[in-house]
Amino acid sequence: MIPILRTPLGELYQADCLTLLKALEPETVDLAFADPPFNLGKQYSSNINDARASHDYLDWCKIWLDGMSRALKPGASLFLWNLPKWNLPLGTFLAERLTFRHWIAVDIKYSLPISGRLYPSHYSLLYFVKGGKPTIFHPDRLPVPCCRHCGGELRDYGGYKDKMNPKGVNISDVWTDIPPVRHAKYKKREANGLSLRLMDRIVAMASDPSSVVLDPFGGSGTTYVVAELTGRRWIGSELDCSAIIQRIESLEADRDHLLQIHANKNTLFTAADLERQRKAGRILSTDYRFPETNATCVCPASEEAQPDLFRASS
Ligand SMILES: C[S@@+](CC[C@H](N)C(=O)[O-])C[C@H]1O[C@@H](n2cnc3c(N)ncnc32)[C@H](O)[C@@H]1O
Repeated sequence: MIPILRTPLGELYQADCLTLLKALEPETVDLAFADPPFNLGKQYSSNINDARASHDYLDWCKIWLDGMSRALKPGASLFLWNLPKWNLPLGTFLAERLTFRHWIAVDIKYSLPISGRLYPSHYSLLYFVKGGKPTIFHPDRLPVPCCRHCGGELRDYGGYKDKMNPKGVNISDVWTDIPPVRHAKYKKREANGLSLRLMDRIVAMASDPSSVVLDPFGGSGTTYVVAELTGRRWIGSELDCSAIIQRIESLEADRDHLLQIHANKNTLFTAADLERQRKAGRILSTDYRFPETNATCVCPASEEAQPDLFRASS
């Protein structure tokens, strides 16, 4: 196969992913991620049929999941992004080949409330590993949730703040800080593109610089951009590669955005929260081991705004 785009780190094929997956050498990939069409009858620029019968859709997914599993090195990770409805049967299928690690609930509202149903509010991110345990596992640490108004902390951690890791809070399997759409300046891209923060978190967790990252459903190229900017090798396919080529050829906006994301992870406080605390006249320290750093929010606005205060702003 001949790539339509090659960089020093990556190769992009304008091809059906089944063709690429068949051509890949087995056990060559460190991290495989897939964000396939969800069979919701959506119109894609590649004109695929996104309204198949359920069994047809699942059969098709199983073919490429099988190919992705085959491509994983022992100890490599596979992540599958989809609606809970599809990830339930697909997770069962994957569990016959790989070891289940997590069902990560990513809290994003993606449809209007439907009468007689619960409000669909999370995407499922399945995380599997080939073999017993992952070779690479570096989960990001997150800043403590702070009040948007005064910068004060929203939780007291049961009086054990001094025991907390100065690099931030352990990440759980419920992610509430992933934005549904890109920041306004990135909106011109196709609406089906994932957030850079989500892909960065996955790539950071399950790969190292020079690892090989595979994504068979390129879309607007979010996975390849993160891989390219963080020094991973990458390989991908997409039926219509025009948006990806354009994006990879001008990485400046994505680079700036990723730098911002990196500045706000693996730290106890974001720069914005520290600035809010400074303005509110609080004692500043980025390390909870200093007991005077106890700036719990007492803002009157915080109570009614509570659910939103736990979310990051971009
Ligand atoms: C949900 S989008 C992926 C978005 C991507 N994660 C991003 O952040 O931009 C799914 C993509 O899969 C592509 N696609 C669908 N069937 C495909 C196939 N058989 N081979 C390769 N790509 C395919 C579609 O054209 C669409 O762009």
